Amino acid sequence: MQVDNVFKNNEKWIKEKLATDPKFFDELGKGQNPELLYIGCSDSRVTAEDLMGMGPGEVFVHRNIANMVISIDLNVMSVVNYAVEHLKVNHVVVCGHYSCGGVKAAMQSADLGILNPWLRNIRDVFRIHKDELNAIEDEDKKYDRLVELNVQEQCVNLIKTAAVQKAYRDRGLKVHGWVFDIHTGKLIDLKIDFEGILKNIMEIYHLD
Ligand code: CO
Repeated sequence: MQVDNVFKNNEKWIKEKLATDPKFFDELGKGQNPELLYIGCSDSRVTAEDLMGMGPGEVFVHRNIANMVISIDLNVMSVVNYAVEHLKVNHVVVCGHYSCGGVKAAMQSADLGILNPWLRNIRDVFRIHKDELNAIEDEDKKYDRLVELNVQEQCVNLIKTAAVQKAYRDRGLKVHGWVFDIHTGKLIDLKIDFEGILKNIMEIYHLD
């Protein structure tokens, strides 16, 4: 890869955008009003806007290793608060993907240095669901299922936040769990039971 190509590609992209809409950048400059907050994996193959067919201005994006929502991660929590309370998005998505290296690493016994505390959150997901996971004999299927359960648990982590609880009460914000199937390109809606989870955890996590 030539880094210079990036700038050539950028010029080409500007021309293409202006050819379809001469006011494209004037509109972008006015501000953003995205409907969706997308929290996904940093994996280079899982490209957020591109896989959803969305363009600039349409989705607020946060990506980290294995699409984690960790309550003491100032980065993800700032993104959630800004998107929900200020941009007033109505949908928050956690999008995982099969063949996630972060999830794979959490399934192995290895000291991975600074990644240990990050991946421990995925090991916690394994512990919570260990009966279901250990009943799956096929290792690939177990891996895929942990990817899905990790998405579900990160959705639960979102529902534990005051920002999401308030936005649900005030304007019906919804949390969604999706998985991108890297082998087919298909986006799968896990259809997590948002209202059921909310009801179930409120006894302990109700904040407002
Ligand atoms: Co990944």
